[in-house]
Amino acid sequence: MSEEFTVTPWEVKGFIDYDKLIKDFGTQPLTDEILERVRRLAGELHIHLRRRIFFSHRDFDWILDKYEAGEKFILYTGRGPSGHIHLGHLLPWFFTRWLQEKFNAKLIFQMTNDEKFLYRHDLSMDDALKFSYENSLDLIALGFEPERTVILIDTLASKTLYNIAIRIAKHVTTSTVKAIFGFEDSTNIGMMFFPAIQAAPCFIESVLQGRNIPCLIPAAIDQDPYWRMTRDVAPKVGFYKPAQVHCKFLPGLGVGGKMSSSMPETCIFTIDDPDEVYRKVMNAFTGGKPTREEQRRLGGNPEVCTVFHYEYYLFEDDDKRVKELELMCRSGQLLCGECKLELAAKIRLFLTEHQKRREDARNAIDKYLYID
Ligand code: TYM
Repeated sequence: MSEEFTVTPWEVKGFIDYDKLIKDFGTQPLTDEILERVRRLAGELHIHLRRRIFFSHRDFDWILDKYEAGEKFILYTGRGPSGHIHLGHLLPWFFTRWLQEKFNAKLIFQMTNDEKFLYRHDLSMDDALKFSYENSLDLIALGFEPERTVILIDTLASKTLYNIAIRIAKHVTTSTVKAIFGFEDSTNIGMMFFPAIQAAPCFIESVLQGRNIPCLIPAAIDQDPYWRMTRDVAPKVGFYKPAQVHCKFLPGLGVGGKMSSSMPETCIFTIDDPDEVYRKVMNAFTGGKPTREEQRRLGGNPEVCTVFHYEYYLFEDDDKRVKELELMCRSGQLLCGECKLELAAKIRLFLTEHQKRREDARNAIDKYLYID
């Protein structure tokens, strides 16, 4: 297995060693002790915690201390609207929704249409704005309630964001953003400033309410560089450091790497025709043997199997069933075709329902948007 991998906010590739990332990024593993606290406070553990799909954090224990002391926290997460949403994007949002419900927390959701316009040569402002609306429908379809959810589309909430961002930007030098984000002299100055805009929502609630409010950010670990910068600046501008809880990447349907829109054949979009999804799943990379006979005799390898990963990450809630699938695969009782059919049926069902809720969200979106 290759040891080479890259994880940045703009590029994720290779076979990721998550333990190494914890060391390299200087985060903390999610311990049994923290999970027990969450279980006690929430009454149960979400599958993403039980299965360590959320695996790393910064100050999650501090957020729980505050919560137990009666201080509520806000949740903050977001999306760079450069195209349609795929299942990988939904992964941290499912968990965020659960946190919102269990901890009665407000969610600030940022659509960085400015970032995507600045970063991508092929994306117009109009398209980035169009995808901000389209992607919001997916968020709303997951059940986030308008009373406790605010969507900020950067260029439509620019007054509020900019006023916070300049306070942050004043404490971040060019050499710092070069070191953290790998920016070069050829990077446009919009991108150089942008990290202050992504940092701003961490503090928006504190600014609007005029008192410090703890903030917890659930997201995949690729976004972590932003939080390193933000945590460094927060005390200098009088705010709490934002806390994070980091998830792993949902892989694509091919070999290695995360699910990524740049490889549409290995990616399941929420707007995909459910029949098209069936075809994608049937072509997925599995841990199976080349022939039926060998599979029966030697068994498959669920560790490398994308079909198994999808069950594990998203589609099979029941831990016993997951274990059963794993054992049946390893022993050769279960063939890849059968497994693929089971998964395709689950994804089809999910998409059919999600697409209905997504359409209904068109009438509700105005209730979520923060426009200044
Ligand atoms: P973006 O659009 O690249 O990703 C949106 C969210 O999806 C996560 N993600 C994944 N999670 C699991 N498996 C995958 N295959 C996968 N691919 C993407 C990302 O970690 C992210 O949580 N700059 C950000 C937008 C943003 C943001 C934020 C994200 C603004 N503020 C606060 C998280 C938290 C971006 O372009 O995300």
